[in-house]
Amino acid sequence: SSAQKGGWDSFMDKEIHEDPTAVADTLLGRFNPNGDLNLDEVHIEPEVFRQIDKIIIVACGTASYAGFVAKYAIEHWVRIPVEVELAHEFRYRDPILTPRTLVVAISQSGETMDTLMALRHAREQGSRVLAICNTQGSSIPRESDAVLYTHAGPEIAVASTKAFVSQVVAAYLLGLYLAQVKGTMFRDEIHQVVESLKDMPRKIQWVLDTQTQTIARAAKSLITAKSFLFLGRHVGYPVALEGALKLKEIAYTFTEGFAAGELKHGPIALVEEGEPIVVIVPSSRGRDLLHNKVISSIEEVKARGAFVIAVAEEGDPDVDRYADVVFWRPTCPTLMSPLVDVVPLQLFALEMAKDKGLDVDKPRNLAKSVTVE
Ligand code: G6P
Repeated sequence: SSAQKGGWDSFMDKEIHEDPTAVADTLLGRFNPNGDLNLDEVHIEPEVFRQIDKIIIVACGTASYAGFVAKYAIEHWVRIPVEVELAHEFRYRDPILTPRTLVVAISQSGETMDTLMALRHAREQGSRVLAICNTQGSSIPRESDAVLYTHAGPEIAVASTKAFVSQVVAAYLLGLYLAQVKGTMFRDEIHQVVESLKDMPRKIQWVLDTQTQTIARAAKSLITAKSFLFLGRHVGYPVALEGALKLKEIAYTFTEGFAAGELKHGPIALVEEGEPIVVIVPSSRGRDLLHNKVISSIEEVKARGAFVIAVAEEGDPDVDRYADVVFWRPTCPTLMSPLVDVVPLQLFALEMAKDKGLDVDKPRNLAKSVTVE
């Protein structure tokens, strides 16, 4: 009913607009009054955390892309290898697991059979499993050694949106906690990252408040496009994959996400006149290496006639010159940018699906939670 949808046209509308609260609520209650992280709720001794020398994140779909984002942050902060693997691939390839490996199973529903089988395998091999999950008491947290809940609230639309941002936040909290117990970051540094995390709900809200019209207009103008490419680099890469997934799931458009650096190794052959390409542009502050490299990717596809839709930081001096459409986002540290960059892509898929007259909450052939292997 419309009341359940809080006045929105669809659950997906409602849930995208809950991205800011999903982030804020997942941060809530996870700090001591002095600002240090407190993850007592996971019931794993700090001593055990200190011994962890490798993390393997297992998940499917959107949850796997949240894990892929977290890999960049956790490796940077904790200086241990983080692998991200689709649960069904992990399960059947004889992965290397030791008691010092922490397997992190990310799942919104907590009932995805592929992820459940992966975590059972990891525990049989003697590794510890921590679940990042949005559903209290579901199978995945019940069968894990520990759980860190996301507090996104119930997600009804099949395509996952607010769960994604809350999963990134929970995985970041885990990374920062590991950095705290292992001493791989200074306390002040951790506090600074926490402050920027706490700023994110406001920044996401800004995107929702100011960019929706531009996004809706762009979707309308591209309704007949046969395919879309999504490009990103660093944390923008998993965001590109997630944006591509959203559009294929609910608008049934053929999409592919690529690492921007990979363009010249193949995907550029696909670019022809008018091909829409969505590019996630890193922060332009200092116009660092990452930013400049993605700008050159835009130039390369532009030179071949692509129609470029950029997701870029407010005030980026280079984007306006090359992009046909820009979805702006506020300034934030690179590792925080996935939390804002994904939002316009969620809205874009939603608008596209609505324009096509599709059922955005219940796309064909898909289930909210896949409980078979
Ligand atoms: C299904 C859903 C996706 C979701 C994936 C993982 O395929 O359609 O939206 O990302 O399962 O679900 P989970 O509940 O484990 O996060």
